[in-house]
Amino acid sequence: MTLVLGIETSCDETAAAVVEDGRSLRSNVVSSQIALHQQYGGVFPEMASRAHIVTITPVIRQALEQAGIGWDDLAAVAVVNGPGLAGSLLVGLNAGKAIAFAHGLPLLGINHLEAHIYANWLIPVSVQKLEEPWFPLVCLIVSGGHSDLILMHGHHEYELLGHTLDDAAGEAFDKVARLLGLGYPGGPVIQRTAEGGNPEAFHFPRALHVGQYDFSFSGLKTAVLREVQLLRRAGGQEVAERGERLVDAGAAAAEVSLPLADLAASFQMAVIDALVQKTADAVANYRARLVLIAGGVAANKLLRLEMTRRVPVEVRFPPVHFCTDNAAMVASAGYYRFVSGLRSGLDLDVVPNLALTDSAR
Ligand code: KG4
Ligand code: ZN
Repeated sequence: MTLVLGIETSCDETAAAVVEDGRSLRSNVVSSQIALHQQYGGVFPEMASRAHIVTITPVIRQALEQAGIGWDDLAAVAVVNGPGLAGSLLVGLNAGKAIAFAHGLPLLGINHLEAHIYANWLIPVSVQKLEEPWFPLVCLIVSGGHSDLILMHGHHEYELLGHTLDDAAGEAFDKVARLLGLGYPGGPVIQRTAEGGNPEAFHFPRALHVGQYDFSFSGLKTAVLREVQLLRRAGGQEVAERGERLVDAGAAAAEVSLPLADLAASFQMAVIDALVQKTADAVANYRARLVLIAGGVAANKLLRLEMTRRVPVEVRFPPVHFCTDNAAMVASAGYYRFVSGLRSGLDLDVVPNLALTDSAR
């Protein structure tokens, strides 16, 4: 039995977890800072690193307690060293180094994106057995910072097929939620708002021709903004013309209530359409035998539904709590590095823009 401690502090979650043999969860502790950042409408980096400093030790302690183990039971410490916010990454990395040094454990620096992929190796608590993913596989990583389409021939072998040319999928959800006045984080709130809406009410652009496997979401965001402006202008004009209240069209426009459900549903469908279409093309062209979806946007219900419906091979998604940032996925990725004989030195540094291909073998 090999137990690996995972640590994750790349953005706004302080997380630690213990995983057995890369696949079985022994503990999973996540301390979220969402409430802290909500008032700013996004992550405030300085506040994030300070909050990590306060919570990192209790979170790690709790992960060991929940797993019912002591330091001596661990085989290795796996910690995310990039990509992410430098000040946040430093807190987790230094905690990981201190533990490795004090207890004579091997240290494994983990790429945050690799960790998201390996969330698919974890066996959900509700499931007895789950076959290990098989290769070659296509993985779609969709998070707040990335939209990458990757071909994997084996463990730690990454070929980047495509990526976003501007906003990441999660970032598009967050920005559009903000412009619709729905709050932060955008993904879950857009999904909820879209529930009663018509995904065909507005036809937003899919940007399918930017590059065979690349994505682009900034045009879509601008199209939503333009539609909102048009709706407001038309609504404001109407109120002013009716003359019920003594307001000019501009002032009335700000008060126009928008068809939020239809806008959210149409926007969500446009993002998902592009993601599914390009993933399906990659599967066909590279004869992939499996598709893994990873990252915070993988929590999206419609993405899960459409991907499963339109891709002709098995599609796997981690359970929702393994899609958003957590340390179980870090421990899992760490286990597969550990058994491959890979190790990091205590001089390991944070790399805020670390690419997945930098971590390839
Ligand atoms: O992977 P993650 O937790 O953090 C990063 O590494 O970026 O992803 C966070 C992103 C946010 O942009 C959030 O809006 C999005 O994932 N997200 C969702 C959903 N849940 C979270 N996007 C769409 N639908 C969801 N249900
Ligand atoms: Zn993430």
